[in-house]
Amino acid sequence: MTQPVRVAVVGLGFVGLPLALTYAMKGANVVGIDVVPRVVDEINAGHSHHMESYQGKTLPEILKEQIAAGRFRATTSYEEAAKEVNHYIVTAGIPVHNGDPDLGPLKSCAQTLGSVLKKGDTIMIRSTVVPGTTEEVLAPILEEVSGLVAGTDFYLTYCSERIAEGRAFEEFIHMPLVLGGINEQSAIKGKELLSVISETDVTISDIRVVETAKVIENIQRDVNIAMVQEFARFAESFGIDTFELIKVANTHKRVNLLTPGPGVGGFCLPNALYYLQPKARELGVSLPLLQQARHINDGVPDVLIDMLENALKDKGKRLSGSRVAVLGLAMKDFSNDDRVSPVHDLVNNLQSRGVEVVSYDPAVPTRYEHKANTLQEAVQGADALLLTAVQKEFADIDWTSLVSNMAGSPVLFDTKNRIPRELDQTVTVVRI
Ligand SMILES: NC(=O)c1ccc[n+]([C@@H]2O[C@H](COP(=O)([O-])OP(=O)(O)OC[C@H]3O[C@@H](n4cnc5c(N)ncnc54)[C@H](O)[C@@H]3O)[C@@H](O)[C@H]2O)c1
Repeated sequence: MTQPVRVAVVGLGFVGLPLALTYAMKGANVVGIDVVPRVVDEINAGHSHHMESYQGKTLPEILKEQIAAGRFRATTSYEEAAKEVNHYIVTAGIPVHNGDPDLGPLKSCAQTLGSVLKKGDTIMIRSTVVPGTTEEVLAPILEEVSGLVAGTDFYLTYCSERIAEGRAFEEFIHMPLVLGGINEQSAIKGKELLSVISETDVTISDIRVVETAKVIENIQRDVNIAMVQEFARFAESFGIDTFELIKVANTHKRVNLLTPGPGVGGFCLPNALYYLQPKARELGVSLPLLQQARHINDGVPDVLIDMLENALKDKGKRLSGSRVAVLGLAMKDFSNDDRVSPVHDLVNNLQSRGVEVVSYDPAVPTRYEHKANTLQEAVQGADALLLTAVQKEFADIDWTSLVSNMAGSPVLFDTKNRIPRELDQTVTVVRI
């Protein structure tokens, strides 16, 4: 009988935890490593706020099952994990501060990993990175600290992470993968490691191609959405429905327009340009279209606020001093992740223009001063309502009754095309 694969997943966030559990469900012995003790303690106690599920089970249910089966546990200690594993999958991210990527967490991860690395170990980087990071930044740290040679003493690979939050388990298994190795032997080892959970084709290519492909896959969505924002502004002025326009254009087999929404959020799409930019600068390559797209998407909250100001003016109200309910803080629909959510910019910019904002999002656990505990509390007496992210609880909203709790002559902004059209007969609904 073949021995179970022994693997450590480094970083137990939105990607790392479900990835670790996917390996465990496939029979691997898995240790999860995270630097935050609270995260590790919560996970070992079977708790997680991640909204993933697989085959009818929630992530916490899967977590408890795998802990009980002895196939998964979490630790803050790389040393402890190193005694049990010979494969490492790294999912620690690169945060972006004011447009600059911070490689600190990933470098520190390589540093600690280097100190426990053994001959014959395999490392797979799955974080989204500045192109060139694996070979130019991580390999030298790993080699220097461990005293081992990449490609000979240990194997080093990069495999881009393509899952979408909310579909992680399914996509770890079924999303086609691309993989690069620091040498051929590393790529072979990487492919073996992927084959434990993946049932799809693995395309092997140059490690720099795989790193760059991941970044441009995200940027093309950012650019697509910026383009659709311009189409939306045209549609509004022309008096045609933006969502209908996109639906009709997308009937063409070679057209795939995304939906506009309140801006582009999340850890992945907005950061992608900031991962490409430093390498482009180093190479002397300019990226005007991509930068313009980012700029357009960053500006959407202000565009919405100007539109709201005009809509309130038509009702004889002023933006400043108005009360506005914001429904949905998440960075995308049906998510509890509000990192880099454009709704935060919207809320901040509304507040700086004298608006009293009351937000509501039953899925997002983060607390904010403006966040109400109930929908009722959020909409009570509001002059306007902005639907900015959809959550499953919103499917049951009785919109007529909700509007009756708002102030007189309210305006509703629907960035998600979810507010029933019947309401248009009695209330002003702006779909954008
Ligand atoms: N979230 C997604 O849907 C998604 C999709 C595709 C790719 N990615 C990429 O995957 C990576 C991880 O994303 P995420 O959303 O899971 O991030 P996350 O912030 O949820 O998780 C990262 C985890 O790594 C931990 N960490 C940081 N430094 C560490 C270190 N030195 N050692 C051990 N653990 C450390 C953090 O404490 C955190 O728990 C990022 O590069 C991201 O761009 C994310």
